[in-house]
Amino acid sequence: MNDKIRLTPEQIAARDPSYSFQELLDRECVPVPDALRESTETYLGSEDLAIERWTSQAFFDREVDKVWRKTWQMVCRESQLRNAGDYFVYDIVNDSIVLTRTQSGELRAYHNSCLHRGRVLKRGTGNSPELRCPFHGWSWNLEGDFQGAPCQWDFPHVQEENFKLPQVKIDTWDGWVFINMDENAPALKAYMGIIPEHFPQWKHGQRYVSAHVEKVIAANWKTVLEAFIESYHAIATHPQLLAFQAIDNSQYDVWGDHVSRTITPYGVPNPSDAHRFSEQDSMDDMMKLAGSEERPQVAPGKTAREVLAEISLPTVSEQAGEEFTERATMSELMDSTLYLLFPNFAPWAGHGTVITYRHRPNGDDVNSSIMDIYLLTRYPEGTEPPKDAATFRLGIDEPFKDAAEVLGAGLANVFDQDGANLPQVQKGMRASKKGAVTLANYQEVRIRHFHQTLDKYLNA
Ligand code: FES
Ligand SMILES: [Fe+2]
Repeated sequence: MNDKIRLTPEQIAARDPSYSFQELLDRECVPVPDALRESTETYLGSEDLAIERWTSQAFFDREVDKVWRKTWQMVCRESQLRNAGDYFVYDIVNDSIVLTRTQSGELRAYHNSCLHRGRVLKRGTGNSPELRCPFHGWSWNLEGDFQGAPCQWDFPHVQEENFKLPQVKIDTWDGWVFINMDENAPALKAYMGIIPEHFPQWKHGQRYVSAHVEKVIAANWKTVLEAFIESYHAIATHPQLLAFQAIDNSQYDVWGDHVSRTITPYGVPNPSDAHRFSEQDSMDDMMKLAGSEERPQVAPGKTAREVLAEISLPTVSEQAGEEFTERATMSELMDSTLYLLFPNFAPWAGHGTVITYRHRPNGDDVNSSIMDIYLLTRYPEGTEPPKDAATFRLGIDEPFKDAAEVLGAGLANVFDQDGANLPQVQKGMRASKKGAVTLANYQEVRIRHFHQTLDKYLNA
């Protein structure tokens, strides 16, 4: 069937017939960053993808070996490893890595498995001057050098030089800590493609975690990830957003193997629903989503997007300790601009509080996964960062609304709409007679890009 797909150039180039995101940028009153002016307009094919990619245990097991053990993965914020001896354990499927900061201030990562009889050395987080196994008391210093064992006379065959803890590659980018288990992996910066060029202005390093929710969802990790790299589903899944989110003309970009992006404009109605909403309707619905009782009036000749930008500026400037009035585009103050770094790290761009997602398998279960939602808020340079928020954990049956106090009720409701949907996607995929999914050429190009990269790793 796939061989028969022959699209005309016009079909491949088809876009929403309204204005584009780039045309919306033409209405900005301050210079637009080069990163937002890029539009890759990529076509990667129209073939169906086999459903076993999301449902087969054998496929999942190949991902463990070829993806989770070969790629750079975000583990935590650098603030969680601020002091010498701070440690953080990262579990991914059946691998476990312990990250720590040495006395000389370097970050290190080790396979979290004792060289005696294999017990994990650490669990969770904490601070410890050494890595000492609780089972029989063998210990290593933070540099990974073997320090000795009780009754060492019984181990003449255990020599210090052969019992260093095996290391894992570790690096940081803008306040985030990453690891890679592949000793031959490329450097993180090269792996990240255009991200280090695009992001300095949005300062992920100059932020603290103002909320962190970690939820188990009854769907494969890719099923969940993919619902956050296309906005197309919002038309049916999140109808309360149509008055102020331009879903249909979202921009989708891909770069190299590892990076892609969606930009969904905010403060303007969805083009195909625009006839239903006035500028004031857009404004009112945005304030409702934000949980605000206020209803700022949109004066004649003004747009809701402009009014929201004016309202946002003082808060954003105060949080960052910087004046944004003459230099923040409306886009950077409100649009949903989500990047993805393969396989699972999704940082948002912008000047205000930004979201970052991460999606991981839940142990070795092909049918469930863990989703992290971080909110990152700026703090002024040269000041002590506020304390990071504690992780709010939600089990498989606990809705996001239980975390409404940290996410806000409006956002929690949006996530619950996805959270209700995704287990049904997983269930329906397993029940599929067709045995394949069909993707949009443009709006779902990031999903196709993701799977093409996945195949490169699986076939390597
Ligand atoms: S297993 Fe770690 S000291 Fe024995
Ligand atoms: Fe959604």
